This record gives sequence, C-alpha cells and structure tokens, in this order.
Amino acid sequence: MTDQTLSNLLHEERRFEPPAELAANANVKEEAYDRAASDREAFWAEQAERLDWGQKWDRVLDWDDPPFAKWFVGGTINAAYNCVDRHVEAGRGDKVALHWVGEPEGDTRDITYAQLQDDVCRAANALLELGVSKGDRVAIYLPMIPETVVAMLACARIGAPHTVVFGGFSADALANRVADCEARVIITADGGYRRGAPSALKPAVDEAVGKAASQGQRVEKVLVVRRTGQEVAWDDTRDVWWHDVVDGQSAEHTAEPHDSEHPLYVMYTSGTTGKPKGILHTTGGYLVGTSYTHWSVFDLKPETDVYWCTADVGWVTGHSYMVYGPLANGVTQVVYEGTPDSPHKGRWWEIIEKYGVTIFYTAPTAIRTFMKWGSDIPAKFDLSSVRLLGSVGEPINPEAYIWYRETIGASQAPVVDTWWQTETGQIMISPLPGVTHGKPGSAMKALPGVGADVVDDDGNAVPNGSGGYLVLTEPWPAMLRTLWGDDQRFRDTYWARYQAKGFYFAGDGAKKDEDGDLWMLGRVDDVMNVSGHRLSTTEIESALVSHPRVAEAAVVGAADETTGQAVCAFVILRESATDDTGAVSEDLVQELRNHVAKEIGAIAKPRQIMIVPELPKTRSGKIMRRLLKDVAEHRDVGDVTTLADSTVMDLISNRLTSGQ
Ligand code: WTA
Repeated sequence: MTDQTLSNLLHEERRFEPPAELAANANVKEEAYDRAASDREAFWAEQAERLDWGQKWDRVLDWDDPPFAKWFVGGTINAAYNCVDRHVEAGRGDKVALHWVGEPEGDTRDITYAQLQDDVCRAANALLELGVSKGDRVAIYLPMIPETVVAMLACARIGAPHTVVFGGFSADALANRVADCEARVIITADGGYRRGAPSALKPAVDEAVGKAASQGQRVEKVLVVRRTGQEVAWDDTRDVWWHDVVDGQSAEHTAEPHDSEHPLYVMYTSGTTGKPKGILHTTGGYLVGTSYTHWSVFDLKPETDVYWCTADVGWVTGHSYMVYGPLANGVTQVVYEGTPDSPHKGRWWEIIEKYGVTIFYTAPTAIRTFMKWGSDIPAKFDLSSVRLLGSVGEPINPEAYIWYRETIGASQAPVVDTWWQTETGQIMISPLPGVTHGKPGSAMKALPGVGADVVDDDGNAVPNGSGGYLVLTEPWPAMLRTLWGDDQRFRDTYWARYQAKGFYFAGDGAKKDEDGDLWMLGRVDDVMNVSGHRLSTTEIESALVSHPRVAEAAVVGAADETTGQAVCAFVILRESATDDTGAVSEDLVQELRNHVAKEIGAIAKPRQIMIVPELPKTRSGKIMRRLLKDVAEHRDVGDVTTLADSTVMDLISNRLTSGQ
C-alpha cells in the first residue's frame, strides 16, 4: 500500500454507530474488555465453559516454556462431540446444521444435527476399519460437499489430525503436504463442479500418491466420494469408494475425549521460503478461541440466526468459521459448493434470499468483484434478512466497505472487519458489533482477551498516528502450537524478532490512528495476498526456475483493483530460449504461466510474466523486489543507489517498452 493510499485511509471520517437494538441485545458488552484485561486467564476459562469437557482442566495456561503454549492443561475434550452430539443430546437434533447448496441448480441437501451425528459416526467407524488410529494424519482433498465436513469431524472424533488441502492445489502441492505430515490415507472425490462443469480431482490424487512415494511416504488408502460420476482410474488394492465403506457402518460411535493439547489439524500455508509451513492447531484452546469469537464477533443468536461463510474449507477460514466455530455454537448455516457467478451473477444473493441468511462473512476481493458487476444484481433479491456483515482475508478499502454496508446490508448492518491468520486460528482484531463504532477500513482493536500492538523495530509501541509492525503481545487459546516437525522454524519465523519482549511477529504492517484504532496495511514480508489467499513469492520463483528454459525469476505482488494483489513475475531465460533479437514467443509466456499452475495450483498463476535481461540486485546479491514492484505498478522507479549495477533498471524498462 502506498503512502498516499495510507493517508487517504486515515482521512476516512465516516463513522457508524451500532444499531440501537443490536447494541441493547448484544452478546458482548463494553465491560468485557476490562474484565478480560484484569484477569485474562480467568476470562478464557469462563469462555471454556461454553464447551463440554470430559475432564476439566487443572491449569488454564502453561506458558513456562515460551513460545510453546499449552492451554487448558489436563483437560480432555472431543471436538466432534462438541460440534455435533451435544446439540442432539440437548434436544436440538432436528435443527438444520447445514443447508448445503451444490453448484448444479436444485442440487441441495438439508442436514440436521442428528443426521450429521449419524454421518460422522459412520465415517469414524469406517476410518477405524481402514486402519486409521488416534494420532495418524489424514489428508483431505475434497470439493465443498457435506462429506468434507463429515470427514473432518470424523477425523477429529477419533483423534486423527486432518490436513485439508485446497482442491485448487496441484498434485505436487498435495504430494508435498502428504509427505510432510506423513499421511497414510487421503480422502478425495472423483471430482467437483466448477462453473457448471465437472472438474476432476482423483487424477491429481493418483499422481500425488506416486510423488509422495518418491519422497518416502506410502499412501495406503484413498477413500473416494462419488460426486460427479466421472470415470476414474482405480487401484483395487488402494482405492475404496466412500459409499462402499462408510454407508454400511453403524451410526453408533462413542466419542472419546482427547487431551486438550491433542493435535486437531495441520493446515499448510505459505511462508517466506519456498516450503509451505504446517501450522499445527490442537483441540481445547482452538475450540474455545473459535467458538467464543464466532459468538462474540458475529453477535451470534444460535436460535434464530442463519449464518453463511463463503470461504472454501481448504483455507483456515473454512476450518474456524465454517466447521469448528459455527458447529460448536450449534447454529444453522449455509455451505455452498460453487462460484458466485454460476450459473448467474446473482447466485449468492439468491441463496441469501432463499435461506434467509442473517450473518454473512466473505472477503474484500469478492465484494470488489460484485461492485464491478453492479448494484442492480443484488437489488433484484430480497436481502432484508441480513443483519450483520463480516470481512476477512485482506484489508477492506473504505469504498468496498461502504458498498457492502449499503448494498448488501441496507445501510443498517454493521460490517465487522476481522483480522487474523492461519496461525492465530481465531479472529484477533475486529469491531464488536454491539459496542464498536464502524470506521470504514479499520479493523479497530484487539478482542477481549487478546493482546495486540503496533511497534517499531525495537519492539516499542508506536504513538497514535504512527505506523509499524503488528505484534501479538499475549498468548491466546487458538494460537498455533508449532510448525509440524519444525520447532526451530516456528521460533525463527514468529518469535525471534521480538524475543526480548516475548511478542509474536505477525508479518503485517499496521497503523494506529489518532484514537488508537488499528488499520491493517498488509504483509511486510515476501508473502503476497491474492484474493485473500496467501502466496509466497519464493515458492512461485522456485516453480518458475524449475522450468528448463528459465534461468532466474523474481516475483512481486502488484496492486490489483479486484484481487488486492496480483502475481507479477520477472524472468530471465536461459540463452537458448530467446532468438537473436531477444524476442520471446507469447507461447512461452503462456507455457510458463501454466507451469506455475501445474506446480502449485491455478491460484498461483502469474497475471503477468515479463521477460527481462537482468534482475535488480543489491551488492550482496539480494533481489530488490521493491524496484520490480514499481515497474509492475507502473510507477517511476525509486532509489536505485543500492543496486550493484544501477543500469539494470534501464535495461528492464527498455526491454519492456520495446514490447519484449
Ligand atoms: C491478511 C486468513 C487486513 C494479513 C484469515 C494476514 C488481513 C493474512 C485481514 C493471513 C484483515 C487477514 N485486514 N489484512 N481483516 N485478514 N489479513 O493465513 O496480511 O490466509 O497476515 O488467514 O491475511 O492470511 P491467512
């Protein structure tokens, strides 16, 4: 974000009061902040009472060996029991848990909590029969279908940590994740629906199994849901159909409480190096953090609300605010398989109208896309049920915030801009809708029980009106416990920078306004945010360099009106790839884009690839991405004095203006 946008942001003067009725009946009132600050552990212990525990904990927080936290020590709990069974036992079995909406029109299923319980028990029994035991990792590579939720909860039930891999990721990405967490079982489908057409998944799994084997990881079973009915290759010794092994199982399974610190899942996310990080979340604290924040930030009234989070389950938002938080709170929610424009651009609003959605949670990139499509599309639908709107994944610009509030929220619904990360597991910074004024573009302040600040290089808090680095100053229940198999990288990545202060370094820049409220400014490291998805510049660079015709590559995230940032790559080719004039065919650029999609996934495909003769480097050989960003964003190139060869930028500009 440029300084200009920043100062525009801070001159944003519009303020929205919480609606009076919402404020009067709010789940959380102002006093919660003070109460939490005066005794943070007592506050979180109080929130833990929302859940059903086997054994109560002896100690709320063990922070004796930072940065390795243990929450609700000595307690035992089963996540699936809390998300499903206890609602049935409390007489709410007939309540709809999921209004599932498939992409093909009319393909819908309403699943009650009682049905979900049966399905989860059957799947748990099936996993046990397939030889999965407590502690084993299970990879899940599925589209947004009910079986995905069932599979995750079945894993949680038997204590087998799941690792859900986004269905848009490539076979290579899946193989690397399977190998890293040593999963012996993969749950997948023949395919899913994407923009009206079946799109295969199983072939990528077949390929990934081979690749994982070459990395030393044998996948013994692949459990396949039949979703699209498309032809699939079959290995009789390894592949089993979901309907063959799950449907016939008993719907009885007793959920054993697991240790509060038992691993619940591993979610891979991009870091600043090429290798994705396996973020480890455990059970008790994670459920406390997600259920409390889902209830407080969305002012959830489980009896009457219909909630919809549009995130894909392959990302952390789908874990915390589609599966664990909402189900632990026993709400009715919508789960939608498809894209917003299939078969028409009003599909989301049609779904809101049909199910009477009251709380809606999506990403700024989607909001900006809808703005582009025009307000007349949502205007055709009755959105009067909507009472609260949420935003997540990237900074929401004031224009998008205002459009969202006015067009989807009838100028009434508060917008909660929620800041958090895969690592934090739970929302950390957000307005509370019954308490906080809405300021378009600001995530406002840390939630009760959460400590956050903006600091300078030395870890000192910056004064109001200044910017710096966002840090989290206190441990919180849903925090990541480590990186799977790599405690040292966990320390180095998040805790080393402010070790003396004991702060968690989030990797984001932020600014405090004159009131002390927080404005998030995006990443300060080599991580990009494209449509709210985290991508590593280094990972895409390695993918490019793995192509035989590429000698060197540098990737930057350039500002993009719709997606927030877009992937722009600068590539130096091996000599043989260019002709005498240095010209490169359009085909090669296409080939390189497709190569990245194959290596990582379609979301990582560069918007633009620029073939250049040189890359700007410092004398120590570090690529100066800042300068490339200037080029990609069509700005005058900034200070080049630290370059080893200051003529490089001229070479690049000349090549680009001559049309490559
Ligand atoms: C960014 C997604 C500004 C931020 C839940 C963070 C945000 C990264 C916001 C985490 C927000 C997320 N305002 N930026 N409300 N929410 N971010 O792990 O840069 O996919 O570090 O988690 O997204 O992305 P992740």
